[in-house]
Amino acid sequence: MFENTYFPRAKKYWQKGKLHDWSQALVHSMAHALHYGSSVFEGIRAYNTSKGPAIFRLPEHIERFFHSAATIKMQVPYSKEEIARAIKLVIKENDLESAYIRPLLFYNYGNLGLVPKYSPVELTIAAWDWGAYLGPKTEKGAKVYIVPWRRIHHSQLDMTAKLGGMYVQSTICGMEARSQGYDEAVLLNLEGNIAEGPGENIFIVKDGVLKTNDKRESILEGITRASLLEIAADLGIKTHIGPLAKEELFQADEAFFSGTAVEITPITRVVDGSNPQEEKKEFTIGSGEVGELNRRLSKSYQNIIRGKIEKYEKWLTYVNE
Ligand SMILES: Cc1ncc(COP(=O)(O)O)c(C=O)c1O
Repeated sequence: MFENTYFPRAKKYWQKGKLHDWSQALVHSMAHALHYGSSVFEGIRAYNTSKGPAIFRLPEHIERFFHSAATIKMQVPYSKEEIARAIKLVIKENDLESAYIRPLLFYNYGNLGLVPKYSPVELTIAAWDWGAYLGPKTEKGAKVYIVPWRRIHHSQLDMTAKLGGMYVQSTICGMEARSQGYDEAVLLNLEGNIAEGPGENIFIVKDGVLKTNDKRESILEGITRASLLEIAADLGIKTHIGPLAKEELFQADEAFFSGTAVEITPITRVVDGSNPQEEKKEFTIGSGEVGELNRRLSKSYQNIIRGKIEKYEKWLTYVNE
């Protein structure tokens, strides 16, 4: 029996082609993915609009899901259309107006050798009502901690894929930051530049220019990131993509995280713990308050995800259509 304590409003999830009660689990403890992280996943959100729940950039998420699956040589046993249909069904069956959606493909029970030769690929989809990922207090700005560990480098693993096993680094860094009293971690890459948060991309603003990095800096190029770059260009905001030195973050006028879970979360304080041999240094970003550009982009983004700007309705998949 499983309670849905931290999965508000989750009543049913989808697996093996049908819905199951949340309290019932179907996975054996010897499932391959549980031991080696041989899974891929997506994090998607649906928002309440005047036409009912709408999923933000569903085709792009499903595309990335298949890309991730290919990096771990999974034969996905469903088509993209079938997965889209199952996602909509899960939202409807749970009566969710807005939702965080988690599809997961994993090597299931079969053999336990590192190569999952006899372990079938299985899909499961859940959705629940998930609020602000970093908690409501970060709305006024998060205090982040640059951890001593470097982001796994793109020469070591394909960082454009959302591979389950890769997230153990995110988990450890997230736990470390919180255990020291910070809201979230930030990871540098092997080059010593800013990479990303454990589950978020990073933007800075300097002299009116919005800047972020890309996959050459060992990041997952988020779908929110791509959306914000497009929105910013439409708003006439100058954008620049390139490596982000950590000093650029310390001296930025504004900084924020972007991601499906966090949406846009301001970063107002940074503590540099990247060199364990040195004392930690603390920096305030800009005025220490949520910045002007952050506010503008957040406002646009909130209107877009709720279907209030026609031009961007192309990014929405209505669940009831
Ligand atoms: C490591 C990492 N970086 C960035 C992101 C942001 O990506 P997206 O905007 O597609 O949610 C995520 C979340 O998926 C992530 O896990």
